[in-house]
This record gives sequence, C-alpha cells and structure tokens, in this order.
Amino acid sequence: MRKKVTVVGAGNVGASLVQRIAETGLADVVMVDVMEGVPQGKGLDLLEAGPILGYDTMVTGTNGYDETADSNIIVITAGLARKPGMSRDDLLAANGDIVKKVAWETGKRSPKAVMIVVTNPMDVMAYVAMKATGFPRERVIGMGGVLDSARFRTFIAMELGVSVENTHAFVLGGHGDSMVPLPRYSTVAGIPITELLSADRIDKLVERTRNGGAEIVALLKTGSAYYAPSASTLEMVQAILLDKKKILPCSVWLEGEYGVKGAFAGVPVKLGEKGMEQVVEIKLSADENAAFLKSVDAVRTGCAKFM
Ligand code: 2OP
Repeated sequence: MRKKVTVVGAGNVGASLVQRIAETGLADVVMVDVMEGVPQGKGLDLLEAGPILGYDTMVTGTNGYDETADSNIIVITAGLARKPGMSRDDLLAANGDIVKKVAWETGKRSPKAVMIVVTNPMDVMAYVAMKATGFPRERVIGMGGVLDSARFRTFIAMELGVSVENTHAFVLGGHGDSMVPLPRYSTVAGIPITELLSADRIDKLVERTRNGGAEIVALLKTGSAYYAPSASTLEMVQAILLDKKKILPCSVWLEGEYGVKGAFAGVPVKLGEKGMEQVVEIKLSADENAAFLKSVDAVRTGCAKFM
C-alpha cells in the first residue's frame, strides 16, 4: 500500500513541502488549509506537473480533515509567519490556538502517525501538539535543528570555498534566538571547523546562523523562509518513511537526557519508522552546556503559557 503524508497548511512552507514530496514519489499527499480553493488549486496544479516530471503521486487538497485519515506522517506548518522585526515568540498565542486545533483534528484520524511540527515558535508548538494529541514523545518531533544546521553548513561552505556536501554541522537547543551552534561538532570532510577557522571567523558564522531566519524575513518583508524549511522537513519525512535510522538534530521532549526533564529541545536523534527512536547524547563542554540549558529555559517560558 502507498504511504500517505498529510501536510497541514498550504502556504509557502506547506506547498513547497508537498511539491518536494510529490517529486520524490515517496508517498501520496493530502494538503489541508482553511483557505477555500487554495489547497485544491495547488494540489491540482501539482498533479498536472506529474506527467512532465514523471511522478504518479496523488495530491489531494482539502479544507477538511477526513481525507487525512490513516496518514503515516502529519506535518503541521499551519499558522502565521514572521514579519520584519518580529521574533518567533511573537507568534505564540495565535499559532498556539491553530496548532492545538489542527493537531487534535489530524491526530484523532491518524492515531499511529508520526507528527512533525514546523509552525513557530516551533519547540513550544511541538509541546502544544503533543498535549493536544496525547501522542507519545517518540511521535511528536519538531523541525528546526535540520534547518539551522543547514544554514550553518551553507555559511561554512561559503567561508571555506568548499562543497556543502563536505560539511556537517550540529545546531542544538531551541529553534530561536538562543539556539546553540556547536563548532566543535561541525566539520568539513571530517575536520572540525575549530581547526580550520579562527575563533573570530567562527563567531561570525555562528551569529549569522542564529540570525538566519530573521535575515530572510528582513529581505522578503512579507513572510519567512520556505525553500530551506521545506527541504529540511523533507529530509525528516524521508528518514521516517524509509526507516533510515538517520541521525538529525530535531526538537524532542527530553526525559532526563542532557540533564533536562520535561522540555522540548533540539538534540541529535535517530529517526526511523517509529519516529524518534533514540536520543543521541554527545558530550558538551561547560560553556556549550550552559548555552544549551539557557536555550531550554527560553522554550520552557513559552511552554508555560500552555500548561
Ligand atoms: C526560519 O528559521 C521559518 O523558523 C523558520 O526561517
């Protein structure tokens, strides 16, 4: 039987993700949005690209939830995006209500699905989704670390004039201003960047990574990034659907790992068909650990509004 992915939200991130999934042919896709005609129109448009690009993916656009039943994965992108000058946390109240509703509506129709949360402020929205669905922590995973790490990798590759394929990076903590890029665990062809770049240059790349989402919001003026966010989400979808056991930085509910009990935070996890199959614990220095805990505190403050 063909796999099925539901994407809630047919805005830029949602529709780009549906396009990426359709083009891989990995699963049929249901795209849900409250805007009448938008998911239907985008869905039909994507179907009509199939004969040219050679995919048979079924894309269904709908304003309801019944078509989403029995999905393997539900991706939540619904909500407002940032405008220039706004932080991700400014979206808290409005997006909290939206995520609560859509997580509940989709979760009850696909009780075995893995839920990936993209809506900002992402770590807090993952908490809202876990509460609304009652899903176990293995099946509610936030997308942020893959995106932040991809940005860090891009800047490392640009700085050193090497292929992005040679780069690897880890950005942990919350997907917010206090995120924690880890230069010691970020490499070019296996060599830590701490051996390739001065501390000063690395600080600049770290700062640009932390500001990566806002840099794009400031340029676009009417919304936030979507090409890299949708690509990051596709990597997670692929890891789960193909049971890859791929280690990626994702936001998960910690139950004692990294010394944190009861909070969502970005850490390296193993993704497979069951969702988050393992939290991978890497050794942090005292400074890295302090920055990580500070970032977790920022997420906790946001979550407190939904407890
Ligand atoms: C970003 O960092 C939208 O949070 C997303 O671009």
